[in-house]
Amino acid sequence: MENRQGLPTVVWSPEPAELPAPRQGEVHVWKLVLPVSPKALAGCEALLSEDELLRMGKFVFEIDRQRFAVGRGSLRRLLGGFLGVAPRQLVFKLDPGGRPVLADGRLARKIGFNVSHSGALVLLAFAAQADVGIDVEKLDREVDADLIVRQAFSPEDQDAIAQAPEAERRLEFMTRWTCKEAAIKSTGAGLGVPLDSVRLDLAKDRETALIGSRDGSAPSVVAIMRFGPMEGYAAAVATEAGLDRPRLRFWDPRAGEP
Ligand SMILES: CC(C)(COP(=O)(O)OP(=O)(O)OC[C@H]1O[C@@H](n2cnc3c(N)ncnc32)[C@H](O)[C@@H]1OP(=O)(O)O)[C@@H](O)C(=O)NCCC(=O)NCCS
Repeated sequence: MENRQGLPTVVWSPEPAELPAPRQGEVHVWKLVLPVSPKALAGCEALLSEDELLRMGKFVFEIDRQRFAVGRGSLRRLLGGFLGVAPRQLVFKLDPGGRPVLADGRLARKIGFNVSHSGALVLLAFAAQADVGIDVEKLDREVDADLIVRQAFSPEDQDAIAQAPEAERRLEFMTRWTCKEAAIKSTGAGLGVPLDSVRLDLAKDRETALIGSRDGSAPSVVAIMRFGPMEGYAAAVATEAGLDRPRLRFWDPRAGEP
């Protein structure tokens, strides 16, 4: 099923009493919508490390503080639950591309995770024993789409966007952008990877991205799924492509609330 913007909609399940850890071959996406209640915010803040509290305190706007606290606090709560570790005891480090990963290699091999935020949404993705990347963008975000397309998109992307009916061009751009960002984020490589080195194949049931390498080694292939997480947003999640497509599950602690 597609939403008003033409993106596949997903069914968000409420959080069950026992945390559902992703199994092999599964990717789980969690949705958090801002603002949260003062109680929920305090619960997230209570899980943050000293460094994270300092980082949170540096944001000028309350909404940015809240976005960070909810994202990082929920990440700690969920990872801690999946791994059987107290959330505050988890230690993160940045890998060379700037991606936060678990510092304990034994735990890091058990579960891959990634975070993305835009506007009122924070999305967290988890995969058992696999890398995962996620990206969400608010569709009305002010960006110079023409400039990004000209400077950072491949001729194939440019053609696909130009050929879309005028009313759908913005969505085609945002969809391609989130797919490429999710693919790059799944590898952990940061700003060093140009968007036009990612070739998208968005054929139905077989969405993949091919990430070219600069050193002549074989390109990596990742499986992608794009979706509409909420009206007015586009998102994509990417993970290492195995023989089978990953099974996706979507969780929203507030699903079903009035
Ligand atoms: C750094 C980058 C991953 C951030 O993406 P963004 O859309 O600005 O922000 P998002 O909210 O989606 O993601 C931010 C989160 O990604 C994670 N992240 C940071 N660096 C990362 C990396 N190299 N790989 C994967 N995840 C990363 C962090 O968890 C961060 O949140 P946190 O700081 O609160 O922990 C992204 O800009 C990037 O490097 N893209 C590469 C492609 C490119 O050139 N893009 C330019 C677009 S014109």
